[in-house]
Amino acid sequence: MKILVTGGAGFIGSHLVERLLREGHQVWTVDDLSTGKKAFLNAIISHPRHHFVHGTVLDRALLKELIQQVDLIYHLAAVLGVKNCVEHPLKVIEGNIDGTRNVLELAYPERKKVIFASTSEVYGKNSRLPYREDDERVLGSTAIHRWCYATAKALDEHLCFAYAKQGLPVTVLRYFNAYGPRATATAYGGVIPRFVTAALKGESLEVYGTGEQTRCFTYIADTVEGTFRAMSPTADGFVINIGSNRPIAIKRMAEMVKQLAGSDSPIVTIPYERAYGRGYEDMMHRQPDLTRARLLLKYEPKVDLETGLTETIRWYRQLLTDGRSDR
Ligand SMILES: NC(=O)c1ccc[n+]([C@@H]2O[C@H](COP(=O)([O-])OP(=O)(O)OC[C@H]3O[C@@H](n4cnc5c(N)ncnc54)[C@H](O)[C@@H]3O)[C@@H](O)[C@H]2O)c1
Repeated sequence: MKILVTGGAGFIGSHLVERLLREGHQVWTVDDLSTGKKAFLNAIISHPRHHFVHGTVLDRALLKELIQQVDLIYHLAAVLGVKNCVEHPLKVIEGNIDGTRNVLELAYPERKKVIFASTSEVYGKNSRLPYREDDERVLGSTAIHRWCYATAKALDEHLCFAYAKQGLPVTVLRYFNAYGPRATATAYGGVIPRFVTAALKGESLEVYGTGEQTRCFTYIADTVEGTFRAMSPTADGFVINIGSNRPIAIKRMAEMVKQLAGSDSPIVTIPYERAYGRGYEDMMHRQPDLTRARLLLKYEPKVDLETGLTETIRWYRQLLTDGRSDR
């Protein structure tokens, strides 16, 4: 198949492109390299079935041309990161809404399936766990910038379903904290890159809040597996959680990273207020219900935390040894 991956030079995107090529597909990657890196595509940049385009999904003419050439679109390009929400809310809102609208608007007349990368953030502060795709969203005040990413992605999901109602095949994936090689400290699931880098440099591992909050970290191979399987028509018209279902407290995660990296770094707790400014809100726990992913995609997360963290630490160690910022 001919496939377009927007944001294909990013963390998840670059792993997905590699996987699609391995499966024999022809892939177009479009990325503005705002957070993605061309070096993430080093292994496949001159692959005969891979075409890299340095451009933006805000360029409708370019996007139209690309969409006309392909059979399927993975739309991963986005402006993300909690820090971005707090510091540049406008960038986050515009970056997430305008690009998605372009992709859907241009895919619609061609009836090209769109697989949209959404986020577990859309569940907000809902305390009913685990999160099922049809659960309520519980978001804080609009005065708290932290919620602008969840709100923008939720509007994107609405757009997806509005187009689905008009006949466009669409699948929405809600990712839960992906991690692994190429996840950068600025990316959404930035806590693992931050801990690993600090542990390897002998600096403090900074745990924000009490550290009792739990997350279900998902190794990139599992995230990509679910994403890859979502091209199946059985997923058309659905929102599907893609994650792992093994919660771990952030403090415990810091200890694990420290131990696996063989580091003497201290673990310190920092109040949210100092990390993100006043009025920051966070959810204590976040865990996906994977029933739908199992049913529709036969998806099952396979990589345990120890294995995934070991691989991640290995990648970061190499990065620091090379002293390169472009890996
Ligand atoms: N990493 C996670 O745990 C996680 C969790 C939930 C959702 N997501 C979603 O998954 C997708 C991929 O996230 P990621 O972690 O790989 O982040 P990332 O920042 O590594 O990837 C995003 C990519 O999009 C590119 N990009 C941004 N704006 C663009 C534009 N206008 N045109 C073209 N390219 C543009 C960036 O350069 C980058 O390569 C995003 O949509 C994100 O919201 C990720």
